[in-house]
Amino acid sequence: MELTRKHSFHGELTVPGDKSISHRGIMFGAISNGLTEVTNFLRGADCLSTISCFRQLGIDIETDGSRALIHGKGLRGLKKSQQVLNVGNSGTTLRLISGILAGQSFQSILNGDASIQKRPMRRILTPLSEMGARFQCWDPVHFPEHPTKSSSDRAPFTIQGGKLRHIHYQSPIASAQVKSSILLAGLYADGITRVTEPVLSRNHTELMLASFGANILSTGTTAAVWPEPVLEGQSIQVPGDISSAAYFIALGLICPNSELLIQNVGVNPTRSGILKAAQAMGGSLTLLNEHTVSGEPVADILVKSSSLHGAVIQGEIIPTLIDELPIIAVMAAFAEGDTVIKDAQELKVKESDRIASVTENLTAMGADVVPAEDGMTIHGGRPLQGARIRTYGDHRIAMAFAVAGLNADGVTSFDDENCVTVSYPSFYEDINKLLN
Ligand code: S3P
Repeated sequence: MELTRKHSFHGELTVPGDKSISHRGIMFGAISNGLTEVTNFLRGADCLSTISCFRQLGIDIETDGSRALIHGKGLRGLKKSQQVLNVGNSGTTLRLISGILAGQSFQSILNGDASIQKRPMRRILTPLSEMGARFQCWDPVHFPEHPTKSSSDRAPFTIQGGKLRHIHYQSPIASAQVKSSILLAGLYADGITRVTEPVLSRNHTELMLASFGANILSTGTTAAVWPEPVLEGQSIQVPGDISSAAYFIALGLICPNSELLIQNVGVNPTRSGILKAAQAMGGSLTLLNEHTVSGEPVADILVKSSSLHGAVIQGEIIPTLIDELPIIAVMAAFAEGDTVIKDAQELKVKESDRIASVTENLTAMGADVVPAEDGMTIHGGRPLQGARIRTYGDHRIAMAFAVAGLNADGVTSFDDENCVTVSYPSFYEDINKLLN
């Protein structure tokens, strides 16, 4: 695929369902009693990995387009899988399912793709071990044919679950995956489990678990869950994914003479930092039709081309836009002046090292970027040139640089544009629909 500059984008679109909420709908449905229906479910590779893992654990899950029906078996209804559970590229699947498996009386083996095998798991192995689960990590080479023990903190690993102790975990990082993993294990603990984060991360687990009947309380940056709830199947309507809408927000703002209406987007304040960041950069965004669906705030977002300027993005806003930082960095390259991104060291341990992959690709396009340990500074305003993009198999790098390529001189191509299927299989088709 080759991309060149387009002169305007117009129209209305809906982006696919939210990835975080789709994962949770499947998982919480699996451990609830009776039927859970998830509509506008994201049929991206990551969420399909969650479905296949729970099927292996004995849960019947039917899918029909973007509707998923989960025949839940209750808190203690999962069955041991005879095979390795493969999470593919999905960190959310791996970290959240580990919390659930920590509470089961059987052993499970988890593995994923080459990117997953590089991602740090100590962040969940430490608290789940404190609660009483036992882990063994394996060398990924020749696994599972010739398993060799590894002292690393990476997948593949075996979990032996069982009776768990409650803890109050002071998490060193603001991570919803860590928080959710511990809260899910807390459903199987001997008392109230608490997680305190340095800064509040996305709260979809707290909202959705409560709607299934869990007793869960959030106070500031602490979430507490009571054990042994009776969870009942629910009907969950998944809002559009703001992390997917972010590419169209950037496209509409950067490209001259453009106006886009992105409908039905989840705008939970723990997720929607992109809106504040884009507005701080001078972007014209208007929220319309604000309402609540399945406990989550939703709105339509009207985006109009804008002259962008640099901004400082740091501190508490970072967890609310962590997945959007690659596209924010691209926007910053088109903005006048400097954009400084700080406190975002988590970027290094996403699907790729996003400080390195963003810096490399923006530099290849002619932007002036200085990477840092916890972010980067982009000296914006230089015209960008098309380049060959190295995605590192990271869906968010491919989509961010597609937006850059559509606003650059010359031709932009990709080593692996298909990695967008992880979160947004119809991404390129949706862009084409807005061209006129
Ligand atoms: C997610 C949480 C975030 C995010 C990821 C999805 C979730 O990760 O980057 O794409 O669904 O809980 P961390 O919680 O590790 O920051």
